[in-house]
Amino acid sequence: MFNTSLRRNPVAAASVLILLMKVFSGHTLTCQRAEYQIGNECCPMCPPGSRVKTDCTEIRSTSCLPCTKGTFMNQPTGLKLCFSCAHCGKDSGLKIKRSCTFISDTVCEPLEGFYCIDSTGDRCEAALKHKQCQPGQYISQKGTASTDTVCSDCSEGTFSNGTFESCRPHTQCDSVNLQLIKAGTASTDAECGEHSSTLMTGIVIGVIVFMLMIGTSAYLMYYLKKKERTRNAENHAEEVQQMTALRSEAGPASSALGGLSLINCTQAMFSLHEL
Ligand SMILES: *[C@@H]1O[C@H](CO)[C@@H](O)[C@H](O)[C@H]1NC(C)=O
Repeated sequence: MFNTSLRRNPVAAASVLILLMKVFSGHTLTCQRAEYQIGNECCPMCPPGSRVKTDCTEIRSTSCLPCTKGTFMNQPTGLKLCFSCAHCGKDSGLKIKRSCTFISDTVCEPLEGFYCIDSTGDRCEAALKHKQCQPGQYISQKGTASTDTVCSDCSEGTFSNGTFESCRPHTQCDSVNLQLIKAGTASTDAECGEHSSTLMTGIVIGVIVFMLMIGTSAYLMYYLKKKERTRNAENHAEEVQQMTALRSEAGPASSALGGLSLINCTQAMFSLHEL
């Protein structure tokens, strides 16, 4: 019955078909590029660097406002808010490559010594510190902004403390005329020292020189002391002689006086000794 009525009425059939199409496509209205839909209307978008303030009406076009500092809009938009500029955080291992503008987001790049672990195009979202090679390893490939450091083990007879770009051969003590004191490892160089015979000679010479110095100074001291004692003895003898001469001149009458002067003289000699 439905069938027959449609067949009889082609216009009605077409209407039903259009209605079905609209229901299935989900859109009752298709706006053009650089237009956005609001209700049953198509409004012109706001240009990059701005956002919608009020939607258009039958009598007025869309009104737009520029993005404020710290926000951006990189495409024509029907949105009422600009996007927030990305932050290149040190805690994410990032620094600014290009600052945010009203029409483009901030572009971040890894800090010096970091590499990117999450990137889209030339933007880096997160970065990690280059790994440090262990002692016994060398940096076989230096880290870049996009790749981590690559470490490799040192081969036998060479060493690196983890910061070298190639392992260095252990010092051959023999070739520099020294004795091996401590064998080298993968992370440390060999330690060399004087040969024990050379060392012994050095010690013996040192001891001899030291003893010679002691002997010389001991002799010098003895010599000086002796010289002083001789001088003192000479002085003493002279004084006694003078005293005796004085007493004999004064005679027995003044023996009491002479005795007194002898005491004085002895006192004088004592004080002289003390000097
Ligand atoms: C490794 O050796 C270099 C040069 O000898 C030195 O400057 C550096 O401090 C050493 N690093 C470590 C971690 O020992």
